[in-house]
Amino acid sequence: MTIVTPLPQLIQEAGKLLRAGGLVAFPTETVYGLGADATNEQAVAAVFALKQRPCTNPLIIHVSDMAQAEALGIFDARARYLARRLWPGALTLVLRQRPGGGLAALATAGLATVALRVPNHPVALSLLEAAQRPLAGPSANPSGRVSPTLAQHVEAAFGAQAPLILDGGACTIGVESTVVDLSGEQPCILRLGGVTAETIAASLGEVPIADERTPVKGPGMLSAHYAPRLPVRLGCEEPCEGEGLLAFGLTLPEGFAHIVNLSETGNLAEAAANLYSGLRALDAIEGLTGIAVMPLPQRGLGLALMDRLRRAAAPRQA
Ligand code: TXA
Ligand code: MG
Repeated sequence: MTIVTPLPQLIQEAGKLLRAGGLVAFPTETVYGLGADATNEQAVAAVFALKQRPCTNPLIIHVSDMAQAEALGIFDARARYLARRLWPGALTLVLRQRPGGGLAALATAGLATVALRVPNHPVALSLLEAAQRPLAGPSANPSGRVSPTLAQHVEAAFGAQAPLILDGGACTIGVESTVVDLSGEQPCILRLGGVTAETIAASLGEVPIADERTPVKGPGMLSAHYAPRLPVRLGCEEPCEGEGLLAFGLTLPEGFAHIVNLSETGNLAEAAANLYSGLRALDAIEGLTGIAVMPLPQRGLGLALMDRLRRAAAPRQA
């Protein structure tokens, strides 16, 4: 059994395991992370190997507080302001890396920048404290697939190779953190997530969101990502033969045999928390030919949800 209840004694053990170069999957408020000591090149290499992640794709470095963050990244006034307002939370800041900060080169894919986040989850924060190290923590799923929002998702994804998994129950936010690039003059939202563009704008003013014209800074920006097994079709009002429906709201189209409703009350936060479980549930149904997705409101968290769904629906590479 690799899934454990994170009692204080176990978190201490997990911290030791991390210091010794082992991997530990841990809950955050967004999705589960696959943790490794970010200063240990071999431990970080093991994360890339287990996820089968291209080593050109840098990892988010989780830290316990502002002091640990400032030791790794160079904060300017904008970065400090955002961090003060939104950490701990679903915000990742891409900053210039502080030389001599001690991070494994592989963790940042050799870039001169670093992505930093203080997660807002008691287990993640206790684990960071126990490990006394910054933790590299990509989402705990094989590269390109649906992110885990339950400990059981992590176990199912990695099977016999699963690391120790700290069980924190269901992630309350359910989509990944919002990644804001502040490493240059012009801020840019590289990935929409748990913190809305409106919330970022309230602190920094309007910030552009990366699109096809923005140079790709990480595969989280690639068109095909977050993919279930079945093909995904967006904006559906009517079923095609054999499709399941990922629904939203009270008024549903007719003719779908299998329906998972992200939020009957049309609540976007609830829909985010149910998104990945919902995709998984439909994906697991024998005999379905595809997943149809109802339109979602294009505001607030709805933009992050549509971002993930568009990538899930994008044509896949062989
Ligand atoms: O909510 C989250 O962010 C979760 C939890 C576990 O914290 N983590 C997560 O990590 O989603 P991951 O590795 O699946 O996604 C990290 C994203 C990728 O799109 C990566 O390319 C980008 O952040 N990223 C990391 N470092 C970067 C950097 N230096 N510059 C630009 N993008 C970076
Ligand atoms: Mg990921």
